[in-house]
Amino acid sequence: MIPITKPALDKNDLKHIKNVLSSKILTDGFYLKKTENIIKNYIKSKFIAVTHSCTAALEVSTILINLKHGDEVILPSYGFVSIANAIVLRGAKPVFVEININDLNISYEDIKKKTTKKTKAIYLIHYAGNACEIEKISRYAKSKKIFLIEDTAHAFLGKYKNKFLGTFGDIGVFSFHETKNIVGGQAGCISINNSKLIKRANFILDKGTNRKDFIKDYKKKIISYKNNKKFYSWVDLGSEYRAPELSCALLYSQLLKVKKIQNLRKRNWNIFKRLIDKLNTRKCYLVKSSQKSTSAFHILALIFRSTKLANDFKKILQSQEVAATFHYVPLHKSKMGKKFCNYRIPLTEDIYNKVVRLPLYSDMSKGEINKISSLIKSFLIQK
Ligand SMILES: Cc1ncc(COP(=O)(O)O)c(C=O)c1O
Repeated sequence: MIPITKPALDKNDLKHIKNVLSSKILTDGFYLKKTENIIKNYIKSKFIAVTHSCTAALEVSTILINLKHGDEVILPSYGFVSIANAIVLRGAKPVFVEININDLNISYEDIKKKTTKKTKAIYLIHYAGNACEIEKISRYAKSKKIFLIEDTAHAFLGKYKNKFLGTFGDIGVFSFHETKNIVGGQAGCISINNSKLIKRANFILDKGTNRKDFIKDYKKKIISYKNNKKFYSWVDLGSEYRAPELSCALLYSQLLKVKKIQNLRKRNWNIFKRLIDKLNTRKCYLVKSSQKSTSAFHILALIFRSTKLANDFKKILQSQEVAATFHYVPLHKSKMGKKFCNYRIPLTEDIYNKVVRLPLYSDMSKGEINKISSLIKSFLIQK
């Protein structure tokens, strides 16, 4: 079976993992610090913490902005469940909004329509690695004094006008899950761009304690007695959100080759784009980025004219051992989502089962690319 995704792993990854085991330092070590510094410098962020998942980073974000009962939070219904959970876990209300037809990114117009006096934050997703209308949304959020959080799970190193995605809003969150462009096994990170939010971040990340102040040298685990305080203590809300050393070692190794991985993904994505452009079909179109942005090339997705065409296409590919799948099911239509939403979101409801995701990863072989290409071609030229 040709899978939807495959992590780009090699023996260098193993070398760094072995280093951790020989060091016997399994938390808060060299690799955590190193990956945080690399990401911070790379995307030009004010604060980076590597977490055990993007889900964890989302939870940190909801604590940081003090979400509480009575607050409303805007998010796309066509999106991942972790954003909705993070909001509901704080007692706030998710307000699901529409997407755009061309790139499946959150609709700026619907954000404006659904903003009320209770709106505390907007959570957006840069779907498939392609930038949302980030400048417009960011300007709007500032004018209304609403927090903006960018879920950049798909879009590490994606850009809008030369600025990295995840650094426009107050907070950006990223995923390095097994399915993402680079992986830490299960890992993620939080980027804080609003200086006022930075102070509490380490408390929240360290189970609500001021523990970080007491660890002077991460590598040697030297405990300093800052300000004559002999113990760290409980000072805020929090949980265990940091990533373990083994994940960070893998992530570090992946960061060393991230440019190569991204270039290969871009090359493979472009092969399929050129094919679809050449076929000039009316059966489907490709989800792609706007002119002013640089995609992270995370997802290869087609949107078909009808659900039947999408299902027929998926069936043919699957019968030939090529993974071709649906993507998000609208959150507002789910069992949990219905508790918060009693209105229609028409485009989302219409489009989600016309989306087909195809395999995309860095080390796709020529044979794999040719096989998928010929299946696409024969389906799209058929009457
Ligand atoms: C948009 C989005 N946000 C968040 C997540 C959660 O990421 P993680 O698995 O790292 O918690 C995902 C997972 O795929 C996602 O697609």
